[in-house]
Parts: sequence; C-alpha cells; structure tokens
Amino acid sequence: MCGIVAYLGKQEAYPILIKGLKRLEYRGYDSSGIALLNGELKAFKKKGKVQELEAFVKDASINGNTGIGHTRWATHGAPDDINAHPHLSGNGRLALVHNGIIENYALLKTALEKEGHQFKSETDTEVLVHLIEEVQKRDQLPLEEAVRIALRRVIGAYAIVVIDREEPHKLVAARKASPLVIGIGAQEYFLASDATPIIEHTRKVVYLNDEEIAVVSIKGGLQLKTIHNEIQTPFVQELDLELESLEKGGYDYFMLKEIYEQPTTIGDSMRGRINVDEGWVRLGGLSDHIGRICDAKRIIVAACGTSWHSGLIGEYLIEDLARIPVEVEYASELRYRNPIITKEDVVIAISQSGETADTMAALELAKEKGAMIYGIVNVVGSSIARLTDAGAYIHAGPEIGVASTKAFTGQTCLLTMLALILAHRRGTISSAYYQKLIAELANIPAKVKKVLEYDEEIKYIAGEIKDRHNALYLGRGYNFPVALEGALKLKEISYIHAEGYPAAEMKHGPIALIDERMPVVVIATNKSAYDKIASNIQEVKARKGVVIAVVTEGDEVISEMADYTIRIPDTEEPLTPLLSVIPLQLLSYHIAVMRGCNVDQPRNLAKSVTVE
Ligand code: G6P
Repeated sequence: MCGIVAYLGKQEAYPILIKGLKRLEYRGYDSSGIALLNGELKAFKKKGKVQELEAFVKDASINGNTGIGHTRWATHGAPDDINAHPHLSGNGRLALVHNGIIENYALLKTALEKEGHQFKSETDTEVLVHLIEEVQKRDQLPLEEAVRIALRRVIGAYAIVVIDREEPHKLVAARKASPLVIGIGAQEYFLASDATPIIEHTRKVVYLNDEEIAVVSIKGGLQLKTIHNEIQTPFVQELDLELESLEKGGYDYFMLKEIYEQPTTIGDSMRGRINVDEGWVRLGGLSDHIGRICDAKRIIVAACGTSWHSGLIGEYLIEDLARIPVEVEYASELRYRNPIITKEDVVIAISQSGETADTMAALELAKEKGAMIYGIVNVVGSSIARLTDAGAYIHAGPEIGVASTKAFTGQTCLLTMLALILAHRRGTISSAYYQKLIAELANIPAKVKKVLEYDEEIKYIAGEIKDRHNALYLGRGYNFPVALEGALKLKEISYIHAEGYPAAEMKHGPIALIDERMPVVVIATNKSAYDKIASNIQEVKARKGVVIAVVTEGDEVISEMADYTIRIPDTEEPLTPLLSVIPLQLLSYHIAVMRGCNVDQPRNLAKSVTVE
C-alpha cells in the first residue's frame, strides 16, 4: 500500500525517483508525486499512474540532487491531485511522503487547527507533516529531532521520508509497521519501500527496524536512532536480487511472465531441500524447531488473500500426511477475535510480501501468547521474515503482477515439503509413500511445463466465456482451495464476479444460479472423489450450465460430459494443486486481456497491503 522512494547525492534526483516509483507501482497506482530540493522546494503531484506524473512535469524545471517520491493507494481521501503525496507543511518548508495510516490523525488535526494550521487535503499524512512543523517551530529543533518528537505522539503505522528546505542535503526517514530500506552508494543514498528501486544503484542496504529514525546526509553519512533517542548501529546487508528479474523479459505482462516462470520457481523453492536419490526433504532453519512443531497440539495458519488459499492446502496436507490438527485463519479475523492461542501451538504465517499488516499483527498477538512462529515468505528481509522464530523463503523471486501466481505455487510447494518432513518424523506415512511423494515432487516442475503447453487451448476457452458476468469454480478435497484461488484470480483481474465452492456444497445454494449463461469451472482430477465430481458435473449439465473441466490426461468419462476440457498430467493427489492451479491462472489471464483490463495493475487493488 503506497510506495515511497527518496534520493540524496550528487546525481539528478528526478530520473532516479521516477524509475523507482515505476518499480513500486505494484504497491498502489491511484496517484503519484515528487518533491525536489534545489534551493527552493518544489512538489509535483498527479492523479493516476506514474506516467501521468511524467507527462505533467514534462516542461517543468525538475533539477535537484535531493528528492522524495510517492505512489499512492488511497486510504484517507479520494485519489486526486490534492490528496496525492508529497504533502507540504503550512510554511512550505517541509515535504513528506508516507506509507501507512496515522490512526489518531483526527485528534491531532483538531489540536493543530486550534494552533492555526490549515489543511488542504483530506489525508492523515498532511496532519503528520503539520505536526512535525509545529514541533520544529515551537522548539526551534533540527528536522530529525522534530520528527522524533512528533512521532512519539503518533498512533498507527508509518514509513516516512521528510525533507527540509532549510536543511538541504539531508533526508530524515522513520518506520513503524511499514517497510523502509536504505541503499548506501558512494556518497549517495537511496531510500525505498522495498529494494527494487535500489538494486540498480547499489547492493549495500540497511533495513530499518520499527520505531527507528534514519538521518542521511552527505556530510554525516547514515545515522540511526530509535524514537526513544537511543543510538543504533546500522546493520549493512548485501542484496541478493537480479535486475533482470524486475523486467518483463518480452512478455506482455508481468503476470504472464510469472505464470511461465513457475517450472523454475517451483524448482527453486525445492533447491537443496530435497534429494530423490537419497530420499530426504530438509528445510534449513527448521532443525532447531522441528521437535516443537511435531509435538504441537495444533498448528494455526495465519494469512490473507492468495496466501490464505495456500494455507488451506497446507491444512489438507499436514492433516492428511502428518496428522497434526490445523486451523487456517484470516489474519484480519484472528487478530481481533480474542482467539485461544497457547504455548503449545505453532503459528505458520504465510505471506508473499512479508509486509501484510494484518498478518504481522496476528503474529505479534501469537507471539505474546507464547506460540512458536514459523514463516513462509517470499520477500527476503521483509518484516514478517524478521518477526518469526524460524521460517523458509520460497525463493520465487520478485512477484510484480498484483495477482499472485508463482508465490502461490512456491508457498504450496513449501507447505508440501513441511508436511512431508513432519509426516516422516512422526511416522504417520510409510517410508515407501514418503519416497514416492519426494520423487513425484521433484517431477512437478516438468509437469507444470507440460500444463503450460496447453496455453493455446486455454486461450480458446477464455475467448468462449470472456463476456459472461459470473462464474462458479468447484473442487473437492485438495482441489477445493484451488477452486477458491481460481475464482479469486478471475475476479481480481477481469472484474467478472466469480465464486469458489466445494463441489458438493453447490447444491446448498449456488446451484440456484446455474443456467445456460453460467460457466462452471470444475477441477475434476481427484482420484478419491472422481465419481462424486462426475455426479456434480451432471447436476450442472442438467441445469444447462457450461462446464469447463480440468481433468487428468487420459480422462474419458468427465471429458465426455464437459463442454470444454483442460488437461493436466497425472500426479499424486496431495501434489495436484501445484498443477491444477496453473490452467486457472492462464484462463483468468487471457479473459482479462481479452476484456481489455490492465492485468498487472487491477483497479482498486495493491500487492502489498500494509494497512488494516
Ligand atoms: C493482496 C494481494 C494478494 C495477496 C494478499 C496477501 O491482496 O493483492 O495477491 O495474496 O495481499 O499478501 P501477502 O503478501 O501477505 O501474501
């Protein structure tokens, strides 16, 4: 939610900021803006995507070696030019960009209005910059002190960068519950919500911790303090990220590139972690904690969105194979519903970004209650990765399309490996079945490649149903969460209303919706419930629904019944989701493209949801 970027050094800031904002657009694209310092402080803000901002400043004077930029996902106030960041102080001396929410902004605003402050926008952020101005003015403080004192009055989440016309060559940044990374170059600094705008300039980075304030200046370098005024030593890390992974590489959209990357990314999530010849699965970082997870009374999975769907598959896997009870919770519900969590529970947090505010808050709650926290995360060094007791990265590389694809299969693959480790150690599956699943897991990347070869057929089906207004996705067992994920993918990027349902539940409601205009995507690969799924398809056909069936290669019975079929290679049932989700990703991708939608940046959505 919102991306921020800042530069301080000897180069022109503008091109660095614009490029950085484009990399961060996945975090929000309602409006964008920049402020540049060059003797005077100038701000340019525009509703819409970063390219609108570029067009807007085309003829303006945009020089300056210090600058801040922002791309917005609106929370307080409509997405328009005025509410766009940066926001300026009343005296025009300070400019600030912010990612997060100032929860007590209304109270602060009333108090500031009594002091004579006037506000132009409806945002919480403008209140913060006025608060800093007020503190600075009242006590004649340098910028960093004013920021520090002001932030102590703030309740909420923030990553901010502030510049002061009277203190050029200096940036002050701070974070609490919203990410901020500082890139260190030669006499220059790059600040951003994630490392993607930084990577082409430097690999040396410092991740800011909660309640830390950073001051960067040409003279003084980087200095860190807490908001309680304690000096901190910066921990400089080396970035492990390739620039090519941030480009589209010849694909029309990042989403398509990311779908096609899955044979590689699933392979990467297993690299060094499974060995078919020797017959083992290992997850580094688990060894010190495996006993506690094996003995857990209960595993609670906390996640949001697509990650929650992979968590559901995790529940099926862990209960089926390792026989440990699992509950899958929406993090946003878990954190507010006074849950029972004990020291004997293990909480698994699943998050692509590692920054989702609700997931983080749920983890903090679980930690307070003494549960062990295990993280399954994609973004290296992210807040959730740093909050957990142990965890594993899925190594999917940067996922830029807002609709998650390769992160989902990476998470599912990681959960499969975890379930296998637990099952083996607890002795709940036979050694032969353990070996068989390991060998089959190693085959999955090649089988995903095979599914991708059916893309043209899937595209044809997309053309047949692209103009429908609703769709139903049905699956049983391991394929039920896949049905949910398929429906989510379609509604996210094509704006067609879609619902995922357990196939047998259809007759308790959704069946009332079925007529000749209703496409019903049935994931019909299950071996254990094949006849039941076939009956569900008959029930749809009897009501003239249009059936698109995802079947196992060689299937005859269901292929006969369905209007359209999509084939996937055969595999062991617990591994099916890794294959059956791929055609659903492609189907929604093609439908969205055919409907003229912006696949990578669907309306109203953002990839990293750092607000509640
Ligand atoms: C947003 C994204 C989804 C993602 C969800 C959870 O809604 O658009 O793609 O699944 O957040 O995000 P996380 O980063 O925690 O997996």
